[in-house]
Amino acid sequence: MEDASLDSNEHRLALVTGAGGFIGSHLVDELLARGWRVRAVDRRSPSGDSLAARNLAHAIGSPRFAFEHVDVAGPHLGELLAEVDAVFHLAAATGVRGSWGKNFASYVQDNITATHQLIEQCERAGVPRLVVASSSSVYGGAAGGASSESGAVRPLSPYGVSKLAAEQLALAYAARRDAATQVVALRFFTVYGPRQREDMAIARMLNAVRTGRAMRLYGDGSQRRNFTYVSDVVAALVRAEHTALTGRAVNVAGPATLSVRELLELVAEVTGRSVPFVEVAARSGDPEATEADFELSRTVLAYRPQVWPREGIAAQWEWMHHNGTRGHA
Ligand code: NAD
Ligand code: UGA
Repeated sequence: MEDASLDSNEHRLALVTGAGGFIGSHLVDELLARGWRVRAVDRRSPSGDSLAARNLAHAIGSPRFAFEHVDVAGPHLGELLAEVDAVFHLAAATGVRGSWGKNFASYVQDNITATHQLIEQCERAGVPRLVVASSSSVYGGAAGGASSESGAVRPLSPYGVSKLAAEQLALAYAARRDAATQVVALRFFTVYGPRQREDMAIARMLNAVRTGRAMRLYGDGSQRRNFTYVSDVVAALVRAEHTALTGRAVNVAGPATLSVRELLELVAEVTGRSVPFVEVAARSGDPEATEADFELSRTVLAYRPQVWPREGIAAQWEWMHHNGTRGHA
């Protein structure tokens, strides 16, 4: 993690949407460590939701932290934007494989409509800076080599379509001649680490080791992912607020790609136990491979991922070992 004393944020106010979730809660902790005041927005409240309570346990003790139990797509968001210096938009409907069929309605609402509502309200309130969480799933895969921001986007899942729409909506507002709000969208590649969502692969593998209950391997495990440790994502979010860049989407990825089979082996090495699993059919919407091109993130954010999978998985295992899946972190 970068030195918190690098910048002075004593009087600056950040609003973080999706603050009760995996990445949002880590960002909240980092912003507080850097001296920001943080207004945290989520429709899961730490007083009524055990995951949000666990994720925000550190932040809740800080006098510079306030939680707002609000739906981003609802009518009360605008009231919270007064005097906000930067908005970090992480709220979303998140699973790739669960976005088919009638579930898509909630992806439209939480990813497209909510982002539209947010950017409209940011413009109205004159919020200077908005950082939007986008996703590698906008690319649909990296069959022809690493995905570059200037290359083709061809999402393979309804989730990916909704994230592309949300990202492009925010960037279209930023391109308006009279735009008040500068926007950067960060395309995260499969993020892991403590507090990772329980539907994701590494959390499921570690949980299978812990409980001895088999996880399901979707397909033959040859699919590859550019896994990214959560502190690298948080560092990129902080940098994206800091630069003068606007109107661009930028990749944020980890230093290595692994197949899911290689991941199973690495988890076994780290934990000292093999991962019990059963092979089931591959899931629609899962790309065969993701891999990021780093040139733009290096140039505009001076971003370099710091955490390699062995170290990151060990940290997630250590955390899970001490906290179970719903303990305090
Ligand atoms: P998460 O599900 O842990 O957190 C999302 C939070 O948003 C949840 O707490 C949820 O309650 C909240 N939320 C959803 N819709 C809301 C609404 N309408 N109003 C208020 N709150 C709402 O997800 P995460 O893994 O932390 O992902 C955070 C962001 O990063 C998302 O935008 C996701 O699409 C993006 N992303 C994540 C990954 C990853 O690997 N985790 C990769 C690429 C992109
Ligand atoms: C992740 C996030 O869940 C998305 O929110 C995000 O947008 C996306 O990354 C992204 O990079 O854009 P995914 O890559 O599917 O999606 O991450 P995992 O859920 O960790 O899955 C990784 C791989 O493991 C996938 O190929 C999946 O099929 C496989 N997997 C996952 C299993 O075999 N079994 C499981 O139980 C879970």
